[in-house]
Amino acid sequence: MTSTEPSAPPADRFRADVLAGLSRPRKQLPAKYFYDAAGSRLFDAITELPEYYPTRTELGILRARAGEMAARCGPRCLLVELGAGSLTKVRLLLDHLGRPAGYVPVDVSGDHLRGAAAALAGDYPALTVIPVVTDFARPFRLPDVTAARRVAFFPGSTIGNFDPPEADALLRRVARLVGPGGGLLLGIDLRKDAAVLERAYNDAAGVTAAFNRNLLVRINRELGADFDPAAFRHVAFYDRACSRVEMHLVSTTAQRARVGDAAFAFRPGESIHTENSYKYDVAEFATRAAACRLRLDETWTDPHGDFAVLYLTAV
Ligand code: AVJ
Repeated sequence: MTSTEPSAPPADRFRADVLAGLSRPRKQLPAKYFYDAAGSRLFDAITELPEYYPTRTELGILRARAGEMAARCGPRCLLVELGAGSLTKVRLLLDHLGRPAGYVPVDVSGDHLRGAAAALAGDYPALTVIPVVTDFARPFRLPDVTAARRVAFFPGSTIGNFDPPEADALLRRVARLVGPGGGLLLGIDLRKDAAVLERAYNDAAGVTAAFNRNLLVRINRELGADFDPAAFRHVAFYDRACSRVEMHLVSTTAQRARVGDAAFAFRPGESIHTENSYKYDVAEFATRAAACRLRLDETWTDPHGDFAVLYLTAV
């Protein structure tokens, strides 16, 4: 097992992104920074919540249809997972793939990725596992592995965290990464009743609120900041016009927070926009993907039509 190191120091990028986001007239923070060790544990807890349907719905689709998905990928493919995390979903595919050329999990969290990749390699001794430690949202190079086809695996509706222009840029980049004839196996969350969506992001146990506030805890620890996370309220709602769930941290009082040498003032009720989670319509998504050189070949959904897994081919 070999691995590639990131080019830019992640701490510098984190600091720059946080300072830039908090300096905007409407404060915001990038959702990708939720996932430190504590945030990843909180997200795992979210996936177990009764209100949070996406993970178990997607797992149900993968379990039921992994054979068909693997057939689409074809034999001897190089599977590239974007934002790989704990490498649980890919096992369902690997169990059906014919002699894959290799598996390249890509994730920014190096320690976690290397540990998970080593465990996976132990369970699949015949599989070539090459973890790449980088932010998949930025351009990166694939290891040089001979394969019949490259297929990107991007489950979890993580694409929903990208605003439409960034999502389109990412889709174009994935099309280029896998090359003509290559594939993208993509999980997307679908539009549904606002009450169901809002419950999924406002769970009764308060795990999503803790996940949201943990971003401030992380900023305090890693960037020498002095946020009082308890002085921010978790707010999540569905914006139908934008077709997205928004998460915010709303200041409960007039307060100031220091981040290193910088200081930021908050009015009572002022928000930090921490996440967008876009919800899609399959036909609309297919039109957008086509403009990004990705042709929709097959769609798998659950019986309620809550979530979809798509196979797209780069043209
Ligand atoms: C991992 C991005 C798919 O948007 O539903 C869960 C993250 N945020 N609860 C999502 C999340 C709040 C999740 N994604």
